[in-house]
Amino acid sequence: REEIGKLQWLIPEIDEMLGGGVETQSITEVYGEFGSGKSQITHQLAVNVQLQAENGGLHGRCIFIDTEDTFRPERIDEMVRGLDDEVIDSELEYRDIEGSAGDDEAMEALVDDVLAKIHVAKAFNSNHQILLAEKSLEIAKEHEDDDYPVRLLCVDSLTAHFRAEYVGRGELANRQQKLNKHLHSLDRVGNLYNAAVVVTNQVQSNPDAFFGDPTKPIGGNILGHKSTFRMYLKKSKGNKRIVKLVDAPNLADGESVMRVENAGIKP
Ligand code: GTP
Repeated sequence: REEIGKLQWLIPEIDEMLGGGVETQSITEVYGEFGSGKSQITHQLAVNVQLQAENGGLHGRCIFIDTEDTFRPERIDEMVRGLDDEVIDSELEYRDIEGSAGDDEAMEALVDDVLAKIHVAKAFNSNHQILLAEKSLEIAKEHEDDDYPVRLLCVDSLTAHFRAEYVGRGELANRQQKLNKHLHSLDRVGNLYNAAVVVTNQVQSNPDAFFGDPTKPIGGNILGHKSTFRMYLKKSKGNKRIVKLVDAPNLADGESVMRVENAGIKP
């Protein structure tokens, strides 16, 4: 078994809270209400995972399962340009792109190269999503000996299709069973290919949670077993977001702050 990798958010307080970053061979669940910034985090991690280890990355590519049509290449573009100049310079050098940070042609080439290492797959319904997770195993295998192996698998959002399709109490067991199977295959990608698995989830801030705790993520207990790291995102003033680590094994619960800026998520 390969050594566990740590993928940095590049927000020192949060990375420290996580014991170095998002772990490979684990599932990390990022949950929060509408607009709390979950997709911003998955986009940023899709960039960061590609960076050299000394810059906080895992030198790998990303598979991005997009269920709500939220993936935005333009956002990746902004985030790449928003990296520190030294990081950009070292990425340019590593990728054999001539020029330096701020140089138009070089930046365009870098953005293209980063985008080429994000495999976006749109899931049209929950069965398709399940299928795409199984296909991710094949993609990871295909790139196993590549210069950039798959080191991150994002599912944004993990639960939206399931929630929309399996409605009502009678469907709950069925939904959980399907979700569980899905999580199992995501977990397999993480374990077999030493990848971090990051999934997003909404909180139950709506009528079907009439009896539930509005700050609890959807998916209840089954997700509770599988997502070894759970991070709760809460809106604060302006672009500020509170990031809480909840119930992580071997780590203290903690709370930090991030900001959603044009340049990406920042301290
Ligand atoms: P849902 O997908 O609706 O559940 O929300 P989410 O938690 O995924 O939120 P998302 O990641 O879409 O974040 C939305 C927030 O990020 C908004 O409040 C915006 O302020 C901010 N945001 C999104 N795109 C940009 C951008 O291009 N620039 C900046 N500065 N902020 C952005």
